[in-house]
Amino acid sequence: MASSIYIHIPFCATKCYYCAFNTYAFHKEQAKAYLTALRTEMELYASETEPLQTIFIGGGTPSILAADALAQLFTDIQQHFQITPDAEITVECNPGTVDTEKLSVMRDYGVNRLSFGLQAMQDETLKQLGRIHTVAEFLESYHLAREHHFQNINIDLIFALPNQAMEAWHHTLNEVISLDPEHISAYNLVMEETTPFYQRWQAGELQLPSEDTEADMFQYTIETLTAQRYTHYEICNFAKPNRYARHNLIYWNNQPCIGLGAGACGYVNGVRYTNIRGIAPYINKLSKCNKPIADTERLIGHAEKAETLMLALRKREGISLEDYRNRFAEEIEVAFEDILKKWIDLQLLQRTATHLRLTSRGLFLANEIFVELM
Ligand SMILES: C[S@@+](CC[C@H](N)C(=O)[O-])C[C@H]1O[C@@H](n2cnc3c(N)ncnc32)[C@H](O)[C@@H]1O
Ligand code: SF4
Repeated sequence: MASSIYIHIPFCATKCYYCAFNTYAFHKEQAKAYLTALRTEMELYASETEPLQTIFIGGGTPSILAADALAQLFTDIQQHFQITPDAEITVECNPGTVDTEKLSVMRDYGVNRLSFGLQAMQDETLKQLGRIHTVAEFLESYHLAREHHFQNINIDLIFALPNQAMEAWHHTLNEVISLDPEHISAYNLVMEETTPFYQRWQAGELQLPSEDTEADMFQYTIETLTAQRYTHYEICNFAKPNRYARHNLIYWNNQPCIGLGAGACGYVNGVRYTNIRGIAPYINKLSKCNKPIADTERLIGHAEKAETLMLALRKREGISLEDYRNRFAEEIEVAFEDILKKWIDLQLLQRTATHLRLTSRGLFLANEIFVELM
């Protein structure tokens, strides 16, 4: 049973040059058929949920849907799932795709958290990234959301972009802080193999900042945001008090979550599953009332322990020794004695009275560390 759902809306106006998420050009008729298929998928999973604590509608660009389509989606959710009164309900929005009508629908249906992808505060950089909006359009969307009384807003940023100077990143971060969002996600650019950025990088047409510059950008991010009283609670995530992303904490705590939509992933009853990625095959499968699952993996034994450890170490507080003991009925050192000792000796990991957590050094080497667990 799960008390969280993720719903994937795989449409964007156009695809950003760095993005490898499962998303396609928006077509109104196809989106309509997609929402009908989603409704069927909700029916198939309704009995596997408890009253929902978190709902995350992500993409792609959920805010590209018209107001009536958004209303339909929320009606379907309400008809298939019980929702707790204090549930966190998030919608990912692309700047320039929200308006009064859409924001009013979201508010009316109980959406209480918005996540805007901004990435950078320079028009030239936005253009270079293939974004559809300008800085001015982002500001317009952000202020419109505030006017509609959204009091829990995240802003996504990316650093270590091609040709990005340190000063440009400082400018982006400080401008965003001046807007006083409740939450900021700051990702370093990942060069995804299937993207135009990757191809241009391979062809020598894109220059990335050095590893040292990237580390300096990350260090600056941590220092600046914590000085502004944002808690650094996960490698890439910073929040004001009580504004941690509850839905994302479900992932980092390796707890069950139903994933709905093309390419969505879920984890329920010990099974991790991934849905079919293509929109047409996804719709086709659901037209026959079959779950549109492409892959499943039963997480048992060491695999579940390793995944739980890896995900929890993403949090700055690390993994709770007690939670681990309660979940697996053993001490964490029993399963991971050698590797934990090695990381502690290398000063990548520290053990407090209650947790095992990455040190500052470990934080910068997190990806290399996690590879060892896989
Ligand atoms: C799934 S996207 C959805 C957000 C929304 N569609 C938008 O872009 O405005 C969530 C975030 O992932 C981040 N992201 C996507 N591709 C990335 C990459 N290759 N490297 C780092 N961050 C990336 C961006 O910050 C983006 O806002
Ligand atoms: S970053 Fe967001 S808007 Fe850009 S292609 Fe990816 S999902 Fe779509």
